[in-house]
Amino acid sequence: MDLYQSSIEIIRQFQSPEGAYVASPNFSIYHYSWMRDSSYIAYAMDLAGEHNSARRYYLWAANVIEKHKNKIFFIKQALNHARPLNDENFLFTRYTLAGSEDSSSKWGNFQYDGYGTWLWAVCEHYLMTGDRKWLLSVEESLNLIVEYLQTVWRLPNFDCWEENPDLLHSYSIASAYCGLRSVFKLIQEGALNLDPITVKRSMEEMRAFIARYGVINEKLTKHIRPDLPEDPVRRDSADASLLGAVLPAEIFPMDHPIMMNTITSIQKELVSSDGGVYRYRNDTYYGGGQWILLTAWLGWVESKIGQDDLAVKRLIWIEKQADENGWLPEQVSNNLLAPQFYAEWLKNWGGIAKPLLWSHAMYIILFKTLNLS
Ligand code: BGC
Repeated sequence: MDLYQSSIEIIRQFQSPEGAYVASPNFSIYHYSWMRDSSYIAYAMDLAGEHNSARRYYLWAANVIEKHKNKIFFIKQALNHARPLNDENFLFTRYTLAGSEDSSSKWGNFQYDGYGTWLWAVCEHYLMTGDRKWLLSVEESLNLIVEYLQTVWRLPNFDCWEENPDLLHSYSIASAYCGLRSVFKLIQEGALNLDPITVKRSMEEMRAFIARYGVINEKLTKHIRPDLPEDPVRRDSADASLLGAVLPAEIFPMDHPIMMNTITSIQKELVSSDGGVYRYRNDTYYGGGQWILLTAWLGWVESKIGQDDLAVKRLIWIEKQADENGWLPEQVSNNLLAPQFYAEWLKNWGGIAKPLLWSHAMYIILFKTLNLS
């Protein structure tokens, strides 16, 4: 089976008429569109030449942002007057496929990383298509998100695994940085008309903040606590999401020792003997399995640092995890880190999400990075 082709088809098939990408069609808890998942999915579709699909999603998101823009002004006002804010005051991380907020579930809403990734992906779309008229049609939403990220990036929020809302996270800040850097480059090229000075200043602040508080022993840390830099929670915090601070964020140059040490620690601590990548060592979600998307992400990074042999190994491992329909799950449950938790999740939420569109997207990204088509 050609997993590359079937991945494209699966993503196409499960894009909603409105343009949203569902996280997973066969897992009711994931019947939403997440900014994080979807922005990588759209980027993968762009890489695969499926610009129409990607564009439909970017526009769907731009409409969602426009619809909720008053939140940004509300947050700014509240912060200026030291008024308290709650989780629902922020832009949500997930929406119904029709583009509405869903407050019925108990998910944490305030996770800003996906908006940084959206900025990056939209700018990549422009770089791949050269369609300036289209870019200008979403300029207003780009501007709103730049303003939003500049306003919220120092506030504690949920990490990309939707946990730890009391902390800051290197991945999330790096994602915001990545989005702003993409916008800044397009301003410099004359493609966008936004104000370059504040964008550049925010980027520099974010990078300096990570350098100051998000590095221990020359390695990125998962969490950041500027109030308590020596907090034990920051120690021993290898997390595969840090791959995102390497690529696409390139928070430091690729060959910088901090980047290389971070990659090596993930290779050493989070790759299972079976070949897949764990999120973090004390993960208990569905018993803490090996994640397809993270295995592809590691391969993507390895390919960029000249470790193609390892990247190909990751690709082959992923291909082995596809079922007879060519569907990839979120995670694979052999070699679980915490097997005692598996049955409970199964009982409460049913089988592991499959297909997970984000898994297919990261596979496409790895496949294209390896120049296989
Ligand atoms: C993951 C998120 C992801 C969501 C939808 C959650 O279990 O922690 O990173 O965005 O699923 O795929």
